[in-house]
Amino acid sequence: MSQVVFITGATSGFGRACAHRFAEAGWSLVLTGRRQERLEDLKTQLGSRVPVHVAALDVRDDSAVKAVVEALPGDFRPITALINNAGLALAPEPAQRAALEEWHTMIDTNITGLVNVTHALLPSLMERGEGASIINLGSVAGQWPYPGSHVYGASKAFVQQFSYNLRCDLQGTGVRVTDVAPGLSESEFTLVRNRGDQAAYDKLYGDTTPLQPEDIAEQIFHVATLPAHVNINRLEIMPTRQAWSPFAVDRD
Ligand SMILES: NC(=O)c1ccc[n+]([C@@H]2O[C@H](COP(=O)([O-])OP(=O)(O)OC[C@H]3O[C@@H](n4cnc5c(N)ncnc54)[C@H](OP(=O)(O)O)[C@@H]3O)[C@@H](O)[C@H]2O)c1
Repeated sequence: MSQVVFITGATSGFGRACAHRFAEAGWSLVLTGRRQERLEDLKTQLGSRVPVHVAALDVRDDSAVKAVVEALPGDFRPITALINNAGLALAPEPAQRAALEEWHTMIDTNITGLVNVTHALLPSLMERGEGASIINLGSVAGQWPYPGSHVYGASKAFVQQFSYNLRCDLQGTGVRVTDVAPGLSESEFTLVRNRGDQAAYDKLYGDTTPLQPEDIAEQIFHVATLPAHVNINRLEIMPTRQAWSPFAVDRD
């Protein structure tokens, strides 16, 4: 049986790097994201090496998620690894100035979208059983508070707890669950968060050494290919040059 990875948000950043990493190891790829053109580009790049199935998908749309899963060609099931990676941060300003609509978009994508995909693929992962993995992209923001993180960090705290709770229910099925929680990583994520502001991107990543999408993809590949009896519950990864802040004290 071939090894099949299903990646959400494969059109950029960690998801795209995972597509390349798993292709390198000969896995079959199911690549999803909203930008069809980028999916087609990936299929052109990787399709001569491994079987690639692409499907334009907005994870917020529950029926579209179900339709994509039901339409998976036989060669691409059962799924060995689900990488629940599609996600975004918006509203970099403090909570009291954030737009409610942007909070809703983060909840709809990072929570509802992740739940939609997980629910639709659980039967396939259970069919694979031993050695299967659900790898959810959390964040250091799910554990550590910082200004401007409000709903984004809270959505990633959901990802962490949902991952742990899934572990409990899936015990005995062979399906593993991991919350991968990266710190500062260079990707389009920061352009999305700052509404395309290149100066904000350059400031965040300038004069330091952030993680690259390939660093995260390597860890995700490691998690997915551990011996079947090994489950990493949570993997938090920071660049060496990142650490925590001291407590903030408001003074006169
Ligand atoms: N970069 C960081 O510093 C960092 C740190 C910790 C955690 N993370 C998390 O890691 C994940 C990937 O981030 P990244 O850095 O790789 O960001 P990225 O380069 O902006 O990639 C995000 C991906 O999510 C997809 N996406 C967004 N909304 C979607 C939707 N409604 N439906 C389907 N796909 C959607 C995007 O594809 P389309 O636009 O084509 O749909 C894109 O492929 C996210 O969950 C993010 O929260 C990032």
